[in-house]
Amino acid sequence: MTDHKIKRFSTYRIAEHWVHMAIFIVLVVTGLSQKFHSLDVSMWLIFHLGGIDYVRLIHRYAGMVFLVITALHIIAGIVCVAAKKWPPSMVINKKDFSDAIHNIRYYLGVETQPAACDRYSYKQKFEYWGVLIGSVIMIFSGLILWFPVFVTRLLPGEIIPASKVLHTNQGFLMFLIIALWHIYNSIFSPEIFPIDKSIFTGSISRDRMLREHPVELARMEGRPIAMIDAMHDK
Ligand code: HEM
Repeated sequence: MTDHKIKRFSTYRIAEHWVHMAIFIVLVVTGLSQKFHSLDVSMWLIFHLGGIDYVRLIHRYAGMVFLVITALHIIAGIVCVAAKKWPPSMVINKKDFSDAIHNIRYYLGVETQPAACDRYSYKQKFEYWGVLIGSVIMIFSGLILWFPVFVTRLLPGEIIPASKVLHTNQGFLMFLIIALWHIYNSIFSPEIFPIDKSIFTGSISRDRMLREHPVELARMEGRPIAMIDAMHDK
């Protein structure tokens, strides 16, 4: 079987991932070093970043960049999907739930083949929506912590401690989701190891498309999915 490369991501998506990755690391490092300020590693970091005031400042400005890139991502997605320029490939549908059940049956040995996924598998979609919704929560709670006086002119004062609890715990959760789930799926998963480079190179091998996104491959090659399934069996 030929294993030629297939284009998967545009330059825009590659650049967007780099920027999100860089800003997320800055936010996690400057946020978690405040949350766990008594740890040696946090004290070392805070000292080398110029003191707690600088750490707070870096976190807030990085938060602003995060707000802008997340807003751009959401607006571009809504506008381009509504204008039918992009397919709604990240929208969760009924097939995702049946694919998830199918794969549980596959891992239990009841099914002979894994679920035939489209451009994004149910796992990728569930992770994407978890991180996107989490990001929106981080932005709103971060803004409330940043502008408490303004916010309490409009809302009851309890919103401040509530936002603090939400922001600090959701921030830690986002770190765990990315550090455990995302890094496992893109580096350590046996199907991917040593690393899935597609979001950096923009391309993916046809073999992987056949294994992981057979429905999209069938559409790209203008073949019925049954033919792709037959190639799978070989
Ligand atoms: C996903 C990214 C983010 C993570 C992981 C994160 C994490 C954290 C953590 C762990 C803290 C420390 C809370 C504590 O002391 O217990 C914090 C504080 C804070 N964060 Fe974030 N954050 C993120 C995004 C944002 C955004 C987008 C903004 C602004 C729009 C923001 C604004 C703030 C502010 C104002 C504080 C209070 C720190 C201070 O007192 O100066 N954060 N963040």
